[in-house]
Amino acid sequence: MSWRVVSTCPAFTETGREAVQSLRRAGCDLTLASGVPANDREKLVAASKDADAVIAALNVYDEGVFRALPGLKLVSRWGVGFDAVDLEAATRAGVIVTNTPGVLDETVADLAFALMLGIARRIHTSAATMHEGAWSQQWGADVNGKTLGLIGCGRIGTAVARRARGFNMTILAYDLFPRDEARELGVQFVPLDELLTRSDFVSLHAAVTDESRGMIGEQQLAHMKSSAFLINTARGALVDESALVQALNKGQIAGAALDAYCVEPLTQFHPLRHANNVLLTPHIASLTTDNGRRISEVAANAILDLMNGNAPKFVVNRDVLKSPALRAKLKDSQT
Ligand code: DGY
Repeated sequence: MSWRVVSTCPAFTETGREAVQSLRRAGCDLTLASGVPANDREKLVAASKDADAVIAALNVYDEGVFRALPGLKLVSRWGVGFDAVDLEAATRAGVIVTNTPGVLDETVADLAFALMLGIARRIHTSAATMHEGAWSQQWGADVNGKTLGLIGCGRIGTAVARRARGFNMTILAYDLFPRDEARELGVQFVPLDELLTRSDFVSLHAAVTDESRGMIGEQQLAHMKSSAFLINTARGALVDESALVQALNKGQIAGAALDAYCVEPLTQFHPLRHANNVLLTPHIASLTTDNGRRISEVAANAILDLMNGNAPKFVVNRDVLKSPALRAKLKDSQT
């Protein structure tokens, strides 16, 4: 029986040519939907009607969405973060949620490092003056030999640490589950306050949870050095954006380079766009064509696995595999 698969992920459409072909070869009725904003549940439901599986960008999947899509068996997240999906509601509804860990770490780490170099050396403002026809040399800050603080030191944080070693940086990390690989790279695990007070660059690589949401607020920014920079390639929700705007405008920290925001797309007149010394990019950390192909393949494989009667490789709500609701849906789709 052919599965109806809907992608609401523009990155999948743009880079997943081989993945699209493999889904179609396997007999999927695949729709590449466009114009479904992350927070628009109505458009999401309309685009995904009768879907057995979806490939999701940062779309919000909650109880209401699952209720409106009763045949849905799999949300295959194009990317690693799954904070926009209510996992408990998914499990109750008998929907497997998967992600694509392990293929994008180096690519995201590249952008984190690029942002660090960019904001420190004022590449963004210097380049802008060149386009304006001016010749305006600007002073920056060194990255080499400085102290980097990683908030979250999992796969991506560790990949950033590897780069930092090549720059002779002292590397600190705050993480409740220190990794051996990071320790072997010389990363020192320290309490959050110590990391904030000692670091010249604070780079965020944590997932959004009830505990980490808003973890960089007024108080944490006040602990940072006035010469320090904040880098965020993880999730906007880790940061209290109004506190950050204030800290930047008061010169409490030296600058921020951000790729992730509380609400995306960032609104046209958001105060961050006009804050002092910010380098802003539109959530591009994973967006290289090489990486896009890799993620698309892993995202599509999750669907192919389930269609073939196997548990997908990267299930994030593993309890669902025992769910009678899921079993019933899978049985229906085979008859
Ligand atoms: C991720 O992997 O979660 C990135 O933010 C891209 O979706």
